Amino acid sequence: MDYKKVVSSMTLEEKASLCSGRDFWHTKAVKSQKIPEIMVSDGPHGLRKQPKSPDHTGAYESIKAVCFPAACATASSFDRSLLNKMGKAIGTECQAENIATILGPAVNIKRSPLCGRNFEYYSEDPMLASELAGALIKGVQSRNVGTSIKHFTANNQETRRLTVSVKVDERTMREIYLAAFEGAVKNASPWTVMCSYNRINGLHASENKKYLTDILRDEWGYEGVVMSDWGAVNDRPKGIAAGLDLEMPGSYGINDREIVEAVQNGTLSEKILDRSVERILRWIDKYETKKQKDVKWDKDSDHELAGKIEEESAVLLKNEGGILPLDKNDTIAVIGKFAKAPRYQGGGSSHINSYKVTSFMDAAKGKGHDLIYADGYDLDKEEADRTLITKAVNAAKKSDVAVIFAGLPDIIESEGYDRNDMSLPENQNILIDEILKVQPNVVVVLHNGSAVEMPWEKEVKGIFEMYLGGQNVGTAEYDLLFGKANPCGRLPETFPKKLEDNPSYLNFPGYLDNVDYAEGVFVGYRYYDSKNMEVLFPFGHGLSYTTYKYSNLKVSKRKIKDTDMLTVSVDVTNIGRMAGKEVVQIYVAPPQDGIPRPVHELKAFEKVTLRAGETKTVTFELGSRAFAYWDKEIHDWYVAGGDYMIEAGSSSRDIKYVKKVNVESTRKRVPAITENTCFGDLMDDPRLTDILRPLVNSYLHIDKNEKSKALNAINDKMNRELLRFSPLRGVISLGDGEFDHEKLAKVIMALQSKLS
Ligand code: BGC
Repeated sequence: MDYKKVVSSMTLEEKASLCSGRDFWHTKAVKSQKIPEIMVSDGPHGLRKQPKSPDHTGAYESIKAVCFPAACATASSFDRSLLNKMGKAIGTECQAENIATILGPAVNIKRSPLCGRNFEYYSEDPMLASELAGALIKGVQSRNVGTSIKHFTANNQETRRLTVSVKVDERTMREIYLAAFEGAVKNASPWTVMCSYNRINGLHASENKKYLTDILRDEWGYEGVVMSDWGAVNDRPKGIAAGLDLEMPGSYGINDREIVEAVQNGTLSEKILDRSVERILRWIDKYETKKQKDVKWDKDSDHELAGKIEEESAVLLKNEGGILPLDKNDTIAVIGKFAKAPRYQGGGSSHINSYKVTSFMDAAKGKGHDLIYADGYDLDKEEADRTLITKAVNAAKKSDVAVIFAGLPDIIESEGYDRNDMSLPENQNILIDEILKVQPNVVVVLHNGSAVEMPWEKEVKGIFEMYLGGQNVGTAEYDLLFGKANPCGRLPETFPKKLEDNPSYLNFPGYLDNVDYAEGVFVGYRYYDSKNMEVLFPFGHGLSYTTYKYSNLKVSKRKIKDTDMLTVSVDVTNIGRMAGKEVVQIYVAPPQDGIPRPVHELKAFEKVTLRAGETKTVTFELGSRAFAYWDKEIHDWYVAGGDYMIEAGSSSRDIKYVKKVNVESTRKRVPAITENTCFGDLMDDPRLTDILRPLVNSYLHIDKNEKSKALNAINDKMNRELLRFSPLRGVISLGDGEFDHEKLAKVIMALQSKLS
């Protein structure tokens, strides 16, 4: 299709009308140009295709589909190929159901454990989120179906999500919140990007040119469509001008008319509107031209895949005395409603109408395994039910092991609102305490979308974090608990001991329509690890039924330039008796003598499969971004020169080996010198010594003829320290009268030109 030609033959009204949806899920057809409508659907972990009454809260029925594990779970796999496989399956489902684009993945950072929608998000770490989302996008799009990476950006809470203004500084935005999108946008080219509801530093994301055009398109080279979140449009003409192509779901023509009027009265350039129309046409065409007919999807094989993905994602948090895997010959009491009716997905727009659910008890029954079962708690109440507890205690008493299926009920965790605290419902904590009184062998299996407090963590012997594991979670649970599968998931977020430890605690969810991201770049482990704070379970943590040994950490060079690539390799051996998968994590610890930086940051990871006794060498490439921070003076990434530690480990707190690498900064970073620049910022640079000398002489009242004395003065500790934090303008009032503003300005010019 010649898009430009089509655009030029469309009327202004037709163009404006193509920039909003026909209804909840469809774009508009343009009859005169034979442009068909296309359909989008939530996502992201399965299809929520609504054939009839539409909504964006998951209230009305959607077609029967397969619910894969939610992002909270799949992120724990740390496995790009697994996410890619899941993407391919979803892409095929979309083709079969005539869905042109699935609304996801959602890569927003888990800033606080309380965000009601954390279950849909990947991680507190932007690199992990971006890499996994990129793999999913590539998988879906390999089936010629689009994705919509969302919600762009800084949408990290549900409280007042449509109106809240996020106060966030440039560096934090770049290093944390934008970074979660950047890698996926650049490497996986999602067909669409969905802008978020919230405001960023006062301006709605849906009309924020800085993000939608300057950064996304001009800097990152994005060429696809930007659509609004459902109802995120505030001022439609401003949105078009900022780069928001498509309004969803539409506004019954009201905003289309505003676009027409804005073009007619000259406040919106028609050229800009044309660009949006062209992008939408290209998107529709991309799907239409390769649309496959008669694609079939096999629900049963996707159900099986969903179970397999969960098996590779679940995280074994604790396994004291090797209580797990369980022995099939033992008498096992299964306690807790979630064993029969698991919580396997979150509420809201991602809610899938599962065609089938396999619980743990179903899976056990399928294998002919009889187990004692007790409900233990009521899901509709917080208060403990003594009758249910007594039955559970009796079951636990007559067993060798009690396995308690616990977690957050639907009502606590959903899109649309945030959690109030990090606790499990009281009746579940009481149940666990009561069981512990009669049974020393207790394993807790958790179902939740984000971190929870575990007051009983020291007492129980085993803990499995299933997150929200999709409709076949039961099969994964059975195979993992009984050792048919070896756990290999890792936490994509830190579990703090208590909510108050979280860095956003004092600023979540903010007051009225304002939230301040005051913790800056110190999000998640970047904060806990920098403070060396005790946590419940660290980022990247996860146990296995086998043991891995690291050796031979190597770096390609001990001294590099910031333009070089560094190759890092490490050997990992499975020294246990069972095959398994280890997630090798590479953190980079920057020098701590300049701008405040987290003690270390995840810069590479790889999941490796190892047979018992097998050794593999895992190799990583680190480029300049692995060492850089966002410098708000130069508005760019900058690598400070110095010694960096390359850490290889299996969690952010379990670093096995470290190698030092010296990085030379080749980039000139020229600070703007003013009267308020401190001597200390200049006097360590030998190129400036001569130019600075008269100022130093004047400031310290040193006879200018006594050159050696002046030099001594700079070297003298006391004077050096005195000078360090004195601004240059000090020479005017505190100096010997030699300098006025004019003379000082000349010296400043000389200093500046020496640096440039
Ligand atoms: C959500 C989006 C979702 C859309 C359509 C919105 O409320 O924030 O993630 O894709 O609804 O259901």
